[in-house]
Amino acid sequence: MIDFCGLRLAHPIINGSGTFDAIAARRAFGDALLEAFPFSAFVSKTITLAPRAGNPPPRLWEAPAGMINSIGLPNRGLDGYLEHDLPQLARLPVPLVTNVMGSTETEVARLVEAVDARDEVAAIELNVSCPNVETGLDIGADPASLGSLVRAVRRLTRKPLIVKLTPNTADVAAVAAAAEEAGADAVSLINTLRAMALDPASGTPWLGGRTGGLSGPAIRSVALAQVAAVALRVSVPVVGMGGVANGIHAKDLISVGAVLVAVGTESFRDPCAGARIARELKSLQIAGSGSSNVNVAEPQPEVDLNCGNSS
Ligand SMILES: Cc1cc2nc3c(=O)[nH]c(=O)nc-3n(C[C@H](O)[C@H](O)[C@H](O)COP(=O)(O)O)c2cc1C
Repeated sequence: MIDFCGLRLAHPIINGSGTFDAIAARRAFGDALLEAFPFSAFVSKTITLAPRAGNPPPRLWEAPAGMINSIGLPNRGLDGYLEHDLPQLARLPVPLVTNVMGSTETEVARLVEAVDARDEVAAIELNVSCPNVETGLDIGADPASLGSLVRAVRRLTRKPLIVKLTPNTADVAAVAAAAEEAGADAVSLINTLRAMALDPASGTPWLGGRTGGLSGPAIRSVALAQVAAVALRVSVPVVGMGGVANGIHAKDLISVGAVLVAVGTESFRDPCAGARIARELKSLQIAGSGSSNVNVAEPQPEVDLNCGNSS
């Protein structure tokens, strides 16, 4: 068992927000999903105050060793989340973390207050990879703006408050320190790296949102460097993510200071990735070894979602 901000988690592997649709997975796999849930806590996709349709297509580009998405945070909005999604997510067998994002302090405050009022939610994750509508700058890119935001919402909830940092900043450790100083209980990183792809035929941006976020193995070494820098700077727990596809990658992030590790893009390839990575990590920790040069066999996707019982 791991104690993370007062939550008791069965193992250190959780999901990255927006990369595992537990409601759709429950529809597809039925109760098998609940019996062998791949993560020790579930992080919702980002919710915003108003519903969002997301970006126009195309929304995905396959990059070498990763992908660029410009999904654009489609969601039902706060009211839709509370009414439709929350009752279903509350049935998951693990603590629920609700991820929220707003483009002003007032918006974020309304989201945090509303989510705080729900007992089904164990913790709140604040996604700060969002432009401030007043300044046009990413809220999470600047220590002073982020500190002010976190200070403003900290007093609105006693639930654990995790600040999900953006990697698209000059000094991620300085931003993490500002979040801690303002009252964050934990920080999580990395979110996707801003990226672009051109349509080979027309030479114009491929993605409907022009730019998108790069994720997957391509960002793993950036994640390792940023998690290490943040863990050296703050005392609150760090949730590390970025390109994790096996137990060694998870162990590497833990070695540089992460307490939990989130799996994102790999879950699109293998919906059982969370459970597999938790098992691989456990064997590596028992064996007490495992640098990045150790070979972990490429797993086969388990189509029956038999996450708990496969080798
Ligand atoms: C398709 C997709 C959707 C995502 N949606 C969200 C989101 O709603 N909120 C958020 O905070 N991060 C979101 N992320 C970022 C992931 O949670 C994670 O931080 C990032 O992808 C790095 O991890 P990975 O390389 O393992 O995917 C999304 C990533 C992808 C690929």
